[in-house]
Amino acid sequence: MSLNTEVLHKLTQIVGENYIFTDIETRNHYGHDETEDYVFPPSVVVKPANTSEVSAVIKLANEYKIPTTPIGARTGLSGGALSIYEGIGLSLERLNKILEIDEQNLQVTVEPAVITQVLRETVAEKGLFYPVDPSSMGSCWIGGNIAENSGGARAVKYGVTKDYVLNLEVVLPNGDIIWTGANTLKNSTGYNLTQLMIGSEGTLGVITKAVLKLLPKNSHNVLMLVPFYKAQEACEAVSAIFRAGIIPSALEFMERDAIDWTLKYHDDISINVDDKVQAHLLIEVDGNYPEILMIEAEKIMSVVEQFEIDEVLFADTEDTKKALWKMRRSVAEAVKSNSIYKEEDTVVPRYMLPELLTGIKRIGAKHGFKSVCYGHAGDGNLHVNIIKGDMTDDNWQTQVPIGIREIFELTVSLKGTLSGEHGIGYVQKNFMDIAFSRSHLELMESIKRVFDPNNILNPGKIFPDHLT
Ligand code: LAC
Ligand code: ZN
Repeated sequence: MSLNTEVLHKLTQIVGENYIFTDIETRNHYGHDETEDYVFPPSVVVKPANTSEVSAVIKLANEYKIPTTPIGARTGLSGGALSIYEGIGLSLERLNKILEIDEQNLQVTVEPAVITQVLRETVAEKGLFYPVDPSSMGSCWIGGNIAENSGGARAVKYGVTKDYVLNLEVVLPNGDIIWTGANTLKNSTGYNLTQLMIGSEGTLGVITKAVLKLLPKNSHNVLMLVPFYKAQEACEAVSAIFRAGIIPSALEFMERDAIDWTLKYHDDISINVDDKVQAHLLIEVDGNYPEILMIEAEKIMSVVEQFEIDEVLFADTEDTKKALWKMRRSVAEAVKSNSIYKEEDTVVPRYMLPELLTGIKRIGAKHGFKSVCYGHAGDGNLHVNIIKGDMTDDNWQTQVPIGIREIFELTVSLKGTLSGEHGIGYVQKNFMDIAFSRSHLELMESIKRVFDPNNILNPGKIFPDHLT
């Protein structure tokens, strides 16, 4: 879709000639995220400076019925920021300020393009804690985290993005600007549009400011890496740790291949892994009192020792902790560098994790694909990377989608769902019928229509093709 000169002229008037791009390099650059190798360039990229420019762009898009895709840091894994119907690529990159840190109320007001790690570090300097830490936190933005309801390793104790958003400034698909809630910890005032906006993947409005809740920062943590001889038992240990009365601040699972490939990818990390080891749990507890953390770590040891494990590595220096986290956070990149792959983001109640893992392997064997599983085991959130390896293109195209459908059917049968933290976006939308009945999907679609009757905002996402 090429936009006519009148529209381009009007867009230029809104954002200024330095912030509108129609050249193919820029369009390609903004046409991909981290989702496999998809590239869907928008017809034009605009970079508004503030909320009122965002509003003017959206108003114009609505008037001319132009598909408009909000674009963040492009670290997404479900294709939420891909301009699949071309149109306007709305980059929010210039809205990148931390506007206010309210130390009295433990709140922060941010624009969407603040990098999550920058936010975490800036509030930490004031003794405050923003706990949500997606693996991509060094490059992802808070706006995208809100749009996808991102999680991360600390979610198991502290919750996900939705648990920290108090209030949002949103530009609606007709260009109107609203604040969705209030800057309060409690709010029973009308429909909860704040939570509706979170995870709506840019289909209902464009987030231009967010007020987030903060916590006091705690001072200590203990981190341990537990090697298991059986991957199944690593999964069984997860719920056993909670049943022993511990809530770890992270409880991450990595299959053998996930570790091996990551160690190959980062040759500066050295960890000895015995041949017999099939999986690891990376377990952290945090708080303010080291004595209590030691008691909790001992309790965790007494749980994991009931399983067949190798020697546990306690990270006794900051460098070792950094190396272990770097290893864990790099798994996705390491897998990507190793093979063509598809990444699914299954989530089940945590006690169902062993059954999910066995089922995924069974389905893989049936359809001839290998998978590398890792993720936030404490949340029952297992990332399943399906590896192309030496599969034929034909099998990759035909067998894998059947296998993925079976994996999602299994996930739902275990009372789980399709995505824990990556969103549905473009790549999972045709599996939504597994999680929702037709009337449930139609209800969601009618909500979309109320907000966006012209279907201009991030069209072609979330809803299965047959509904749109
Ligand atoms: C992770 C990302 C892929 O957990 O969600 O590393
Ligand atoms: Zn994850």
